[in-house]
Amino acid sequence: MPALLTESVCAGYGRTPIINDISLTADLGTVTTIIGPNGAGKSTFAKTLVGILRPMSGRIVVNDVDITRMPGHQIPRHGLVYVPQNDNVFKRLTVRENLEVGGFASRADPSARIEEILGIFTDLEKAKDKKAGFLSGGQQNLLAIARALMVDPAVIMLDEPTAGLSPAYTDVVWNQIARISQLNTAVLVVEQNVERALKHSDFVHIFVAGRDHSHGTASEIASLDLASIFLGRSHAN
Ligand SMILES: Nc1ncnc2c1ncn2[C@@H]1O[C@H](COP(=O)(O)OP(=O)(O)OP(=O)(O)O)[C@@H](O)[C@H]1O
Ligand SMILES: [Mg+2]
Repeated sequence: MPALLTESVCAGYGRTPIINDISLTADLGTVTTIIGPNGAGKSTFAKTLVGILRPMSGRIVVNDVDITRMPGHQIPRHGLVYVPQNDNVFKRLTVRENLEVGGFASRADPSARIEEILGIFTDLEKAKDKKAGFLSGGQQNLLAIARALMVDPAVIMLDEPTAGLSPAYTDVVWNQIARISQLNTAVLVVEQNVERALKHSDFVHIFVAGRDHSHGTASEIASLDLASIFLGRSHAN
């Protein structure tokens, strides 16, 4: 049983679906990345998974529990958390306080988990008493990921965690993503940079115009003519 399973999910903002027939799975201990051109529906899919948008049809299952019609605020306790691209930390709270807020829903005393998380995110450990607003953009992204991990999720969905970061910090974030998957978590990432997605992922899906054009292991996807696919010149068979 995969940690996450979606079956033929269709969703959008009005009557017309933006994403169509998306079926995928993500297993514990793996990194699955969604790539695709601007406007392909990657973020729309992410928002549908976590209950911000309601699917028009299809099914979403986390750890064997059907969460398809569940209100968004209940979904984290069933094991699926989401880190949006922007505004993902409380800037006036310290690093430690941000982590406390993240753990609030799931445990009376989050301090043991905070220590565990700070042990993984060494950059944050050094800055734990700083206000989040004073961290660099990259550190804020890491804090957002760390906070989402406070509930010990089965599945974590990251929407463009490296957007706008320097190449050096992008590597730091991807290294953390690898470590998170090794904590027996299924990591689902939306990434703009194809090369990086192929380098760091186990499985890759290419979304084009709201559909899952192709998917496979990173090496299978690397062998495709990605330029044609991204430009809409190649149709799935
Ligand atoms: N709030 C919204 N209301 C209406 N349409 C929207 C909304 N957000 C996105 N869309 C439309 O849905 C389509 C898919 O957008 P989405 O943001 O999911 O793409 P994306 O693959 O995440 O793109 P990007 O790589 O630019 O982040 C686009 O045509 C976009 O204009
Ligand atoms: Mg997007």
